This record gives sequence, C-alpha cells and structure tokens, in this order.
Amino acid sequence: MRKSPLVLGIAGSPRRHGNSEQLLDAAMQGAADAGARVHKLVVTEADIHPCRGCNACSLTGECVIRDGMRDIYPLIDSADAIIVGSPVFFATVPAVLKILYDRMQPYWARTHVLKLPVPARRPGGYVVVRGGGDPYGFVAAQYTTKSIFAVLGIDYLGEVKVESVDSPSDLGRHPEALDEARALGVTVAEEAARRVQTDSDRPSDEAS
Ligand SMILES: Cc1cc2nc3c(=O)[nH]c(=O)nc-3n(C[C@H](O)[C@H](O)[C@H](O)COP(=O)(O)O)c2cc1C
Repeated sequence: MRKSPLVLGIAGSPRRHGNSEQLLDAAMQGAADAGARVHKLVVTEADIHPCRGCNACSLTGECVIRDGMRDIYPLIDSADAIIVGSPVFFATVPAVLKILYDRMQPYWARTHVLKLPVPARRPGGYVVVRGGGDPYGFVAAQYTTKSIFAVLGIDYLGEVKVESVDSPSDLGRHPEALDEARALGVTVAEEAARRVQTDSDRPSDEAS
C-alpha cells in the first residue's frame, strides 16, 4: 500500500494568522490536496529556549536543554518534507524562528563532528513575506533558511515571496501568491510521496 508522506509546516511568525501563516496554510492545503498528511508547528507557541552554544551536542549528538524541543525533534525527524513560513524581521527571520533554527545544531554536530550517517534527503520550500521599507530585501532570511535546510538535508524546491504586506488583511490583495503557495505545497508533497515510495520499493539491507 502507498504510504502518504508527512509534510511539516513551520509557522515562524510571532503573530498568529498573519501574512506568512496564511501563505503557509495555502501551501499546506496544496500538500493535503496532493494526498499528504500535514502538521503545522507554530513556533511562537512552543516552549523553546535559545541554544546555549555549549557544544554538548558535539559529544553526544543530543541537546542538553530540557524543553519543548523534546517533542519537536521527533516531529522534525518524522517529517518527509518541510515547508517554512516566515516574515522578514530586520532583514532576517524573527527571533522566535531563529531560536528554533539554532536548536538544529545537534543535526549539524551529528553529521559534521560525529560523522554519523547522513539521513535520506527530503524536499522542502519556503514562503516569506515582508513589509518593505528597508533596503535588504529577502536575501538574509532566505540564506538563513537555506542554511537550516542544508543541515536537515532538505532540498529547497522553491519559494514564494510577497512584498508590501503589513496588516494581516494585506495578503488578500495577493490571490496569485496564495495560488503559488498552494502549487508549492503540491510540488513538495508530490516529491515527498515519490521519495517515500522509492524508499519503500528499495530492498532492505537484510533482504539484499
Ligand atoms: C520587528 C519587525 C521587524 C520588521 N523588519 C522588517 C524588515 O527588515 N524588512 C521588511 O521588509 N519588513 C519588516 N517588517 C515587516 C514585516 O515583515 C511585515 O509586517 C509582515 O507582513 C509580517 O508578517 P506576519 O503577518 O506573518 O507576521 C518588520 C516587522 C516587525 C514587527
């Protein structure tokens, strides 16, 4: 039987149901319409604390901080694809999302320091909004997110960018962006389904 992939959406704004979360919801709807199971993680509601830079994870591959990440790490591990949604805050991602990003350090430690086997690559995408008015655009937020995707072994399949939105009702002026986000969700979910299927078709080590 065909296994339906799990697409994890990460809502990275401190504001609930704002422009980036609406865009993320559209992407998740696209993923669900394409047959994926979907789950949304709202980082601003998670009980997570900043990385301490203690590098304990370079010894064990695990984070020593006991907080909400205990539930989030398994969620990230079980996802077959990840789509992040965020606004631009002072050129990069908001602090709540950066806290989550920095807590990805154990994944970096496992592959780069401890040289543990690299997990199978997964597809992903990014939906990002900004108000405008500063000269730095989307670039820093994009690179920060791409850096995390690299650490998690996620192939960046695409992005949707919307400029000149501030009030949560502003996204309503961009129906084409919602359509693009839905299409990105479909693309990510279909690619995840293809990879999940390929993995389950592959003979196991024991069988080969
Ligand atoms: C603290 C803060 C910093 C911001 N910094 C930027 C910025 O550097 N560049 C920009 O274009 N917009 C900036 N904005 C505007 C937001 O990107 C914009 O309001 C966006 O639509 C908010 O998305 P959300 O509804 O998903 O939270 C900033 C907003 C806040 C509250």
